Amino acid sequence: MTNPPSKIGRGSAPGKVILCGEHAVVYGQPAIAAPVNRVQANVTVRAGESGSGLQVVSRNLQGFSIAERQRIQQRLWAVAATVQEMLGGLHHWPPLGDVMADWQPLQVMPKMPTNLLIEIDSSVPVERGLGSGAAIGVAMMRAFADFLGLQLTTEQISAMAFETEKLHHGTPSGIDNTVVAYNQPVWFVRGHGVERLRVGADLRLLIADSGTRGSTATVVGDLRQRHDAAPATYDPLLQTIGDIAVSCRGAIEAGDVGKVGGLFDRNHVLLQRLDLSNDSLDRLVAAAKAAGALGAKLSGAGRGGNMIALITPEREAAVRDALLAAGANAVIGTVVAAG
Ligand code: MEV
Repeated sequence: MTNPPSKIGRGSAPGKVILCGEHAVVYGQPAIAAPVNRVQANVTVRAGESGSGLQVVSRNLQGFSIAERQRIQQRLWAVAATVQEMLGGLHHWPPLGDVMADWQPLQVMPKMPTNLLIEIDSSVPVERGLGSGAAIGVAMMRAFADFLGLQLTTEQISAMAFETEKLHHGTPSGIDNTVVAYNQPVWFVRGHGVERLRVGADLRLLIADSGTRGSTATVVGDLRQRHDAAPATYDPLLQTIGDIAVSCRGAIEAGDVGKVGGLFDRNHVLLQRLDLSNDSLDRLVAAAKAAGALGAKLSGAGRGGNMIALITPEREAAVRDALLAAGANAVIGTVVAAG
C-alpha cells in the first residue's frame, strides 16, 4: 500500500540502554536492552532545491570540535545516503533478503528524488552509549518512509536501520536498532529476531554520563582483535556474561529487583576484566553502590559513555547526588515499567 507522499516526512525514535550482555552479544550471547524515551532523535525529510543533491543538517553537535563535527556530519550524510539508496532500490538491496520478501508485491515504489534536505534534531547524546546512531537511523527510515508515503513494518525499519548501523561500527550485533525500532524492553540474541521481555516489577534506573566519549567502533574492534588473538582467554568471560544475562532475564521476569542489582554488579566486574571500563566509569559505579544503589554497571560500548545504577525510589536522590559528586556530567532517570 502506498499513500501520497507528504511534503515533509517526519520520523522519531528513542535512545536505548543496555541492561546486561553488551559486547558478549556481538559473539552470539544473549543481552537485554530497554528504550529510553526521555531522549529522542527527530528527523525531517523534504525536497531540496534543484541541483542541491542530498543535504544533511544536524543540530545538537555543540561541544564537539570542528574536526569532530565534520567526522560526525560525514557519517550522518553516509547514513542518509544509504537510506536514500536502500529505499530507492529496495528490490535490488540483497542484504535485506527475507525481510523484504513479502514487501515487493504489495507496494509500488515511488521514484526517489535526488535533491533532498534532511534535518536531524536529536537529544540522544552522541557516542555516550545511548544508541544515538541507531536512534537516528530508525528516525531517518521513518522520515523517509513518511516522505515517500511508504508503509514499512517495524521489522523492516529495524532491518534497514541495521544496515546504517554498520556505518557506525562494522560489526553491530543488531541490538541497538532492534530495541530502538520496537521501543520496548527486548531479549536479544544475534540472528534470532526480537523477543519482548516481560518485566515483573518496575526497574528504576539512573543513567550517568561519565563525561568521556566512547567510540563503539574502536572499543568493539579492539575487543575483537584481543579475542581473536586469544579466544581461550576471552570466550569463557563472554560465556559467563551470557549466563548472567540468562539469570537477569529470570530475575526481571520474576520482579526480583534486588537480584537484578547483584547481576548488574557481576556483569560490571566481567566488563572490567575484559578491559572495557575506565577510571571514571569505575568511580561512578563505586559511588552509586556506596550511596545505596541495588546494582551498577557500565552500559553500552564502555571506555567512556554511560553507566547505569539500579535504584529504589528512596535512594534515588542520594544516588543521583553521589553520581554528580563523583564527576558525572549529567544524570537522567528512566523507568523500565512492569508489563
Ligand atoms: C553497543 O550499544 C552494544 C555493543 O554490544 C555493540 C553491539 O552489540 O553492536 C557494545
